[in-house]
Amino acid sequence: MSLYGTNDEERTDLNKEESRFVRARSRRLLGSLLAPMRLRLILAIFLGVISTAIRVAGPALIALGIDWALPRAIMREYNELWIVVGLYLSAALMTSILTYYFLMITARLAQNVVFDLRNRMFVHTQKLSVEFHERYTAGRVIARQTSDLESIAELLAGGLNELAIGAMFMFFTAVALLLLDPVSFLVLFGALLPLALLTRWFQVKTNRGYRKQRVASSRLIQYFVESMTGIRAVKAFRKEKRNEKHFGGLVEDYRGHNAHLIQLFGIYDPGLILIGNATVAAVLLVGGYRVLEGSLGIGVLTAAILYARRFFDPMEEIAIFYNSYQSAASALEKISGVLEEEPSVPEPQSPVEFDSAKGHIHFNGVKFKYSTGPTILHKFDLEIPAGQTIALVGTTGAGKSTLAKLISRFYDPSLGNVTIDGVDVRDISNKDLRREVVMVTQEAYLFSGTVAENIQLGRPGASIEDVMSAAKAVGAHEFILSLPEGYDTDVNKRGGRVSAGQRQLISFARAFLANPAVLILDEATSSLDIPSERMVQRGLKTLLAGRTAVIIAHRLSTVSIADRVLVMEHGKIIEDDAPKVLAAGSGKFAKLYKAWKDSLV
Ligand SMILES: Nc1ncnc2c1ncn2[C@@H]1O[C@H](COP(=O)(O)OP(=O)(O)O)[C@@H](O)[C@H]1O
Ligand SMILES: [Mg+2]
Repeated sequence: MSLYGTNDEERTDLNKEESRFVRARSRRLLGSLLAPMRLRLILAIFLGVISTAIRVAGPALIALGIDWALPRAIMREYNELWIVVGLYLSAALMTSILTYYFLMITARLAQNVVFDLRNRMFVHTQKLSVEFHERYTAGRVIARQTSDLESIAELLAGGLNELAIGAMFMFFTAVALLLLDPVSFLVLFGALLPLALLTRWFQVKTNRGYRKQRVASSRLIQYFVESMTGIRAVKAFRKEKRNEKHFGGLVEDYRGHNAHLIQLFGIYDPGLILIGNATVAAVLLVGGYRVLEGSLGIGVLTAAILYARRFFDPMEEIAIFYNSYQSAASALEKISGVLEEEPSVPEPQSPVEFDSAKGHIHFNGVKFKYSTGPTILHKFDLEIPAGQTIALVGTTGAGKSTLAKLISRFYDPSLGNVTIDGVDVRDISNKDLRREVVMVTQEAYLFSGTVAENIQLGRPGASIEDVMSAAKAVGAHEFILSLPEGYDTDVNKRGGRVSAGQRQLISFARAFLANPAVLILDEATSSLDIPSERMVQRGLKTLLAGRTAVIIAHRLSTVSIADRVLVMEHGKIIEDDAPKVLAAGSGKFAKLYKAWKDSLV
């Protein structure tokens, strides 16, 4: 079981202990978000309390006006009336001013919290290891950063104020009524039971409803993101219809949950109005008799009725915002899960000095498994002398990429270690490791920006001359010059679109500029057609010279430039020799090689 967001949103059935754990986690996050603004928070609470208390004084002043000032005004003594009206107006003015400051401060607080949270999410998810990103899909990270953050922002932008002020208003109103007229308070108290029952029912139902709705909406987003990021596969397999149907189903689901929620509101709202009006009627009835008896002033009755009426006013808002509170709380739970994820490959506390690496790689009794699934490497030993070019071949799933990921420390072994020049990669700082070990994959990802900037990523701060000579070295210079704006072409703009082969060349130039001691190419050329591959092949030779290189190749054409071929099967090296020797032999590689040769003619 993992509570760290692995499938939080799919689960609606956390047990007690798990929910307590998750709630504590999100409280910690909230505390850490609010800690830097503690003073302003206290000021906001203070302003909120005072302004609400003054607002609640209104009806009491009216009672005073009717029962005390009015009789005197009838006797032509107007001072009291002026005093009461003056007090009423000042109270109203005070409420407005204090509310203004309250809203300003809370709005700023809310903005700061959302801003902080957004940044933390980005910085943290980016910092997390590849392990996290291979487990927690992009769609889900996007849902955290979008819909979850939005629901928190929404609550903070308005809902939380309403909720706090509304609850305080109800409390103060009840207290004022108790002080003013305990009998009417008792009548109001009698209404609390049906109110509590109705509200509880509503809460339980909507809680479940909103949870389902959120799951549905998060599925919707995820499915959308997955379909769009995989749009090529969708097109290739003509899956549009099927996706459309599936998506339609998800939308229908989402709509159904919404409709159910609207229905719940449709029952709650009228129920609330009914209880409110019945209470007012009861206060009027009981109070009316007492006025007739002479035991109650008309002013006090008027105030009691006003209090009873106003008591229910915030209830609907509270019920609505209670839900936005709940969805924000659950969003915060999920975000806190991501934020408490630790990088599975932590940066060393005291890194070993590591520069001018030679690139001697050594796997010592490495055992490795992913967080899910079986053990991939049992007791793996391998030595790659500095400067050697290795071709790693083997069937899909043999563990080739896993090996690459261990060298570049995307993952750590569970037993044994991987060393470079005798230093455990766990003791090398991220900065040094990223400089000395570069992995180029099939994706050859280009960031938005110019071609030059994309190459420059290999060595930030490199001059344009260095960028160009790197491009020349790997044979990318010519095609870059042919782009509309040469090196200044924006790779995401019209006309700047580059082919897969060209993208590959740009990422080779980037790697060349980085000039690492160890270079890993994981199927880096397999998405290329034969002419593009030829183009890349030439660049490859320059790229590999003078460094340790591990080339994982699908096509065996790359193998000829290797010093040594490793054939991998089920997490083991089963053949290991020079390419010519292996090709001439009778092993697995010889068979593969023959088949490949035959396929070329
Ligand atoms: N992120 C992952 N989580 C769990 N299992 C994985 C992960 N990546 C790869 N595997 C499993 O590890 C095995 C080796 O995969 P990999 O190293 O990618 O093989 P190759 O690159 O040789 O095709 C496969 O059985 C694969 O299913
Ligand atoms: Mg692979």
